Amino acid sequence: MRITVIGSGYVGTTTAIVLASLNHQVIGADIDTSKISKLKKGILPFVEPGLNDLLSEMLKTGRLNFTDNIVTAIQESDVIYIAVGTPSREDGTADLRYLQAVADRIAGAINGYKVIVVKSTVPVGTNRWLSDYLSDKIGNPKLFDVVSNPEFLREGSAMYDTLHPDRTVLGGMSGHAIEILKEIYQPLGSKVLITDWETAELIKYASNSFLATKVSFINEMCRIAERAGANVVEVAQGMGMDVRIGAKFLNAGIGYGGSCFPKDVKALIATARELGVELKILEAVETVNRTQPLFYLKKLVQTLRETVDKPWIVALLGLTFKPNTDDQRESPAIRIVEELLPDCQEIRIIDPTIEFPDQTPWPDERKVVVCKTVEEAFSAADAAILCTEWEMFAKINWEEAVRCMRNPILLDGRNFYNPEQLRAAGIRYLALGRGNST
Ligand code: UDX
Repeated sequence: MRITVIGSGYVGTTTAIVLASLNHQVIGADIDTSKISKLKKGILPFVEPGLNDLLSEMLKTGRLNFTDNIVTAIQESDVIYIAVGTPSREDGTADLRYLQAVADRIAGAINGYKVIVVKSTVPVGTNRWLSDYLSDKIGNPKLFDVVSNPEFLREGSAMYDTLHPDRTVLGGMSGHAIEILKEIYQPLGSKVLITDWETAELIKYASNSFLATKVSFINEMCRIAERAGANVVEVAQGMGMDVRIGAKFLNAGIGYGGSCFPKDVKALIATARELGVELKILEAVETVNRTQPLFYLKKLVQTLRETVDKPWIVALLGLTFKPNTDDQRESPAIRIVEELLPDCQEIRIIDPTIEFPDQTPWPDERKVVVCKTVEEAFSAADAAILCTEWEMFAKINWEEAVRCMRNPILLDGRNFYNPEQLRAAGIRYLALGRGNST
C-alpha cells in the first residue's frame, strides 16, 4: 500500500515509521523543513524509546521517506493519513485550522481516488464536516472517502502501543475504504471495531476522559486517605483487584499532564456544551487535577515553614509530565515550580531530557537552575520534590543525599519510593495519603 502521513509530530511520525515496518511504502510529509531534514537523517525530533532505531532501520529499507512537498506526497499515495495538531483554543474547543489547511492541500492536489484517514484527535462532527468540505472543494465525492481512525498510543511507549494496539477503531461510511484500512492493519492482528464517524470520534475522547477520571478519582481518594489515615496505594491495590475496575491508572500523585488528557477533557466539555449537554463529572475531573499539585505542595510548604526560614533551596526531580518522554506540556511539575518560586532562593531542576541551556521561560529565570547531576541538585537543599518517576531517581543514594542536603525533606509527588527505606536513610519523607505515619 502507498501511504502518506501528513504531520510529523508525535503521532504522525510514529504512525509513518510503524506503517513502514508493516511493509507499506510510506511518505512522511510536513511543512516544517527543519523537522523533515532531521527525520531524513534518521533523527527523531522528540524522545521516544526504541523509535529512533526503527526509524533508521526503515530509512535503510527505502520504504520510508520524508518530504516537505505536501503536493507530491499526496499525489504519490492512495491513502493519506492526517496527523496534524489540534491545539486547544482559549474556550477549550479544538483549533482545526491545521486540519483545514491539509484539506485545502488535498483538494488542490488530488489526482485519483484517495482514502483520507483522520488520525488527529478531532471533535465529534469533524470527519463529517471534512467529507462535506472536500466534496464541495473537489466537486466529485467519488474521488475520496474519509475514515476516522483515532490513535491511542501513549508517549514513552508509542512504538509498542502502535505495534500492539488493544483495538483499531475505524469510523466511516464507505465499506470499500474500511476494507483498505483493515488490510493496512492486518499484520497487527488487533481487534477491529467498525463504527460511524461520530462514534469513532467519541470513542477517542471518551477513552481519554475516562482514564483522566480514574486518575482524578484516585487523587480524591488520596485526599480523603490523607485525612483519615488510610493508605491510598493499598486502596488502589484493593480496588484494582476487582476486574470490573482494573488496576491501571489508579496511581495517586500530583495529577495528569501531557498533550492529551488536559486538552481532550476540555474539548469534550466544550463539544458537549455546544450540544447543550453539561458534563459535570468531567468538570470535576478538571478541578481536581488543577488543584492536585497545590494540594501536595501545601504539605511540603507547611513542613518547610516549621523547619527553616525562607527563601528556600529546593531540588525538583523530573520536569516532564511522565517518564520516558521529553514532553513538558501541561506538566504538573511546572505548576509546582511556578507556585514555589516566590518563596525560594533557588529551584534546582534535574530531568534527563532537559536541554542545555534550558528553553523554558520561567517567571524568574535567575532562580531556576538546571542541574546535570543529582548531587548538584541536592547540594545544600532544604527539600526535594519528586515530580516525575524517572528510573534514574530510583537509583539515588539517599544516605549520600542526606549528607548533601541542608534539610533532608522529600515530598514524593508520585508515591514512587518505599517510605520505610527512605526514612531509614535519614530522610524526612512526606507522601500523601499513605497512612498515619506519613
Ligand atoms: C494518553 C492515553 O493514555 C493514550 O491512550 C492517548 O493516546 C494519549 O493520552 P499519554 O498522555 O502519553 O497517553 O500518557 P499517560 O500514560 O496516559 O499518562 C497521562 C498522565 O496521567 C501523566 O501525567 C501521568 O503521570 C498521569 N497518570 C497516569 C497518573 O497520575 N496516574 C496514573 O495512574 C496514570
